[in-house]
Amino acid sequence: MIVTAILGSPRKKGATSTIAQSFVEEAESRGAEVKNYFLHGMDYKGCQGCHACKSKTEDCVMKDDLTATLEDIKTSDIVVFASPVHYWDVSGQFKSFFDRTWSFVKPDYKTNPEPSRVQKGKKAVLVLSQADMEDVHKDVYEKYSFFLSMYGFEVYLIRAVEMQNDASRITEAIKPYTTKAREIAAQMIPKDKEWAERFDS
Ligand SMILES: Cc1cc2nc3c(=O)[nH]c(=O)nc-3n(C[C@H](O)[C@H](O)[C@H](O)COP(=O)(O)O)c2cc1C
Repeated sequence: MIVTAILGSPRKKGATSTIAQSFVEEAESRGAEVKNYFLHGMDYKGCQGCHACKSKTEDCVMKDDLTATLEDIKTSDIVVFASPVHYWDVSGQFKSFFDRTWSFVKPDYKTNPEPSRVQKGKKAVLVLSQADMEDVHKDVYEKYSFFLSMYGFEVYLIRAVEMQNDASRITEAIKPYTTKAREIAAQMIPKDKEWAERFDS
């Protein structure tokens, strides 16, 4: 079982990374092989709009730190996509990364019932955190869930609301979300004994 985590917050110990890492830790404890990509520490650019991935190749022709990331997403069983909400959308780091996933889409995506180059059957965990209340920024998870579904992922959402930028206040408020992250990991990657129980029931 391979898990790739795309960490889109500039803060390694902030709310978003903490929730994503809870999933990762639980997955690792269940034997998964994990690759973490902390976008803020990587050297890459957003999509240059050359459309070579629609006419010449099936991959993005830009060669930088995202090259391996995009490849790993394709070969993973589970991908964690994590970002804070910045200015009513994902972070700049995450948006530049996400634009590069344009290479996942086939040229005839508008009419093709199988629009994605990503193999079906993968799971995506979309982690979003924001300072505002639950009824704000619903469009953010709706649009990124939409694209991940189009790529063929089965999407699980962890949406942490009312998260503050003050790290000391994050500790308690974050618990329901780190718990949810661990629960989803446990559900996706049962231990041997749990597999047996599922099989028996
Ligand atoms: C530049 C910037 C823009 C932000 N914009 C929003 C916003 O539009 N809506 C919101 O609810 N929170 C906004 N926030 C707050 C963060 O989304 C929130 O505190 C988040 O949990 C921080 O995650 P982190 O700890 O991973 O950095 C913003 C924070 C920053 C730094």
